Amino acid sequence: MPTIPSGVRGAVITGWGTALPPKVLTNHDLEKMLDTSHDWIVERSGIHERHVGGTTAGLSVESGRKALDMAGIDPLSIDALVLATTTPDRCVPATSATVQQALGLRCGAFDVNAACSGFDYALVQAHGMIALGAKKVLCIGTDTLARITDWTDRNTAVLFADGSGAVVLEAVEGPGQLLGWDLDADGSAEKYLYAELGGNIQMEGKEVFRRAVRIMVDSATKSMSHAGVTADQIALVVPHQANIRIIEAACSRLDIPMEKAAVVLQHTGNTSSASIPLALCDALDNGRVQPGDLVLLVGFGAGMTAASLILQWGGPGGDSKVLA
Ligand code: COA
Repeated sequence: MPTIPSGVRGAVITGWGTALPPKVLTNHDLEKMLDTSHDWIVERSGIHERHVGGTTAGLSVESGRKALDMAGIDPLSIDALVLATTTPDRCVPATSATVQQALGLRCGAFDVNAACSGFDYALVQAHGMIALGAKKVLCIGTDTLARITDWTDRNTAVLFADGSGAVVLEAVEGPGQLLGWDLDADGSAEKYLYAELGGNIQMEGKEVFRRAVRIMVDSATKSMSHAGVTADQIALVVPHQANIRIIEAACSRLDIPMEKAAVVLQHTGNTSSASIPLALCDALDNGRVQPGDLVLLVGFGAGMTAASLILQWGGPGGDSKVLA
C-alpha cells in the first residue's frame, strides 16, 4: 500500500456530529424476545443496550447537519459528500443523493459500501479528493442494521443496531492530519458474514471473531508503518465497535493499553459504518484528543474488509491553517 507522497494537499477535521434513533432496546428487552440473557450478552460482547429505528438518510441528515454547524460552513461550499453505508434506503439512487438534497448541498455525492470498515474507506476517499483539489468534504457513516437483522436469531440480534456519525474535512495549507492509511479486503471470507438482497444478516460468529482480531492488527500495523509511528505514540485508538473482547484482543496484540481505546458499544451495539465515527465523536466531545495527538482509526467488516488511518489531530503541530 502506498505511503503518502510529499507535497499533496492535506486536510483536517473541523466539525463532527452524531445521530442515534430515540428508541432504546436493552438486553432485558431482548430477554423477552429471545432465548438469551443480559449477563450472557454483556460477558460475550460488552453490549448493554442499543438504539434502533429511523432511516439511513434521516440519521445521516441529522449527523451531517450537526457536523456542518460545528464547522460553521455554508452547505453550498461543500465540494463532495461521501456516505459510508451498507444499508442504503433504496438500491437506486444512492442514499447520499437524498442526504445531499436534504442538507442543501450542491456537489457530487456517492455511497461507499465496505461494511463496518466503510467510514475508514470513506475518509481515505475524502482525503484523496482533497489532494485532487476539493476544499471541503462531508463524510458520513450511517447504518440501519435493525432492518436487516432477524430479531428471532439470537446469534445476530444481540449485536446489531442503528446510528450515524459525520465529520467535515477541510483542506489546509501544506500537509494535513493523515499520516498513513491501509485498506484491505478478502472476498474468500465473504461467506462468514453476509446478507442477500432483501434478506437478513447471516454470520458465523466464531470465525468472524478469529479473523477480526488478526485483520485489525494487520491493518493497524501497516498504517503505523506507513506513517512512520509506533504503537506507544498513539494517543487514542478508535476501533470498530463490534465486541469488547475483539477490541481488547486487538489492543493487547498491538500493545496499546485499553485506556487509550474509545469505546461506546455498551450503549450503541454494532452500528457498522457508524461505529467508528460514533466512538470518535464521543472521544472528541469528552476532550480526549489534544492538538498534535496521534489517533488510530481501525475497522473490520463483511467482505471481509479491514481499514485503518493514522491521523495527527489538527495536522503536524496541531494547528494547520484551513484554506479560505
Ligand atoms: N444468548 C445466549 N446464549 C447464546 C447466544 C445468545 N445470544 N448465542 C449463542 N449462545 C450460546 C451458544 O449456543 C453456546 O452454547 P453451548 O456452549 O451450550 O453450545 C454458547 O452460548 C457459546 O456460544 P459461542 O458462539 O461459542 O459464543 P462466543 O463466545 O463465540 O460469542 C459472539 C458469540 C457472536 C458474541 C462472538 O463470536 C462474536 O462476537 N463474534 C464476532 C461477531 C462480529 O463481530 N460480527 C460483526 C462483524 S462486523
